[in-house]
Amino acid sequence: MSARIKTVPRHIAIIMDGNGRWAKLRGFSRIKGHEAGAQAVRECVEGCGELKVEYLTLYAFSAENWQRPKTEIIALMRLLEKFLKEKTPELLEKNVRLQAIGRLTDLPQSAQERLHTTIEQTAGNTGLTLILALSYGGRLEIIDGIKSLLRAIELGHIDKAMVDVEMFSKHLYTRYYPDPDLLIRTSGEMRLSNFLLWQTSYTELYITPKLWPDFTKEDLFAAVEEFGRRQRRYGAVE
Ligand code: IPE
Ligand code: IPE
Ligand code: MG
Repeated sequence: MSARIKTVPRHIAIIMDGNGRWAKLRGFSRIKGHEAGAQAVRECVEGCGELKVEYLTLYAFSAENWQRPKTEIIALMRLLEKFLKEKTPELLEKNVRLQAIGRLTDLPQSAQERLHTTIEQTAGNTGLTLILALSYGGRLEIIDGIKSLLRAIELGHIDKAMVDVEMFSKHLYTRYYPDPDLLIRTSGEMRLSNFLLWQTSYTELYITPKLWPDFTKEDLFAAVEEFGRRQRRYGAVE
């Protein structure tokens, strides 16, 4: 681990972008890029474990990614299943607890089952919590949160006069996790692409031109080091 790292974020979120461009540069199919991306995930999980980061949220498949060609979607879903199947022993060995956020019921049945198996098998782990965002959309999450809140009001569980930021947060997919401290996006795009819209209000942003399959543990450490130099003010004065 880099000795220059002084402040470790409690929660890191990553928009793992650039797999397609990585493959194109090499004359490979986009799917090869996604396969290479899965390897980068391994490095990152390892790096977060070394740093003792508590939560790592990875944007693996957006609600909008369903618009991609069927062949790519099928390959991504297969890759997800393969990743979970192959990596579960490693997650157990590294004390990683797997969680997932998003409209998980949109995923193919076999992927859902695999996901829930790994979630159950790793539920007792006390190290890093790895959260996969799958069929995830920030706006959809807010809509689902509003519906859940309205239901609670209708059932008389809460009084609408009591609704505030903290209470609404408890109706989001992320209710069990703190907001991300650091958001990393690879491949240089300067946008959120519908990721954690509510939760990133005061998250520090770090955008690197590196394509996701090229993102190494050292790159992660560089991002965390930069995070340590940021001044977080939350709208107040120092
Ligand atoms: C990110 O890489 C992975 C997913 C969105 C599933 P892309 O597939 O978006 O790669 P680019 O942006 O086309 O290079
Ligand atoms: C964001 O990347 C989604 C994931 C990394 C899973 P996209 O490639 O889908 O985002 P846009 O289309 O460039 O905004
Ligand atoms: Mg992309």
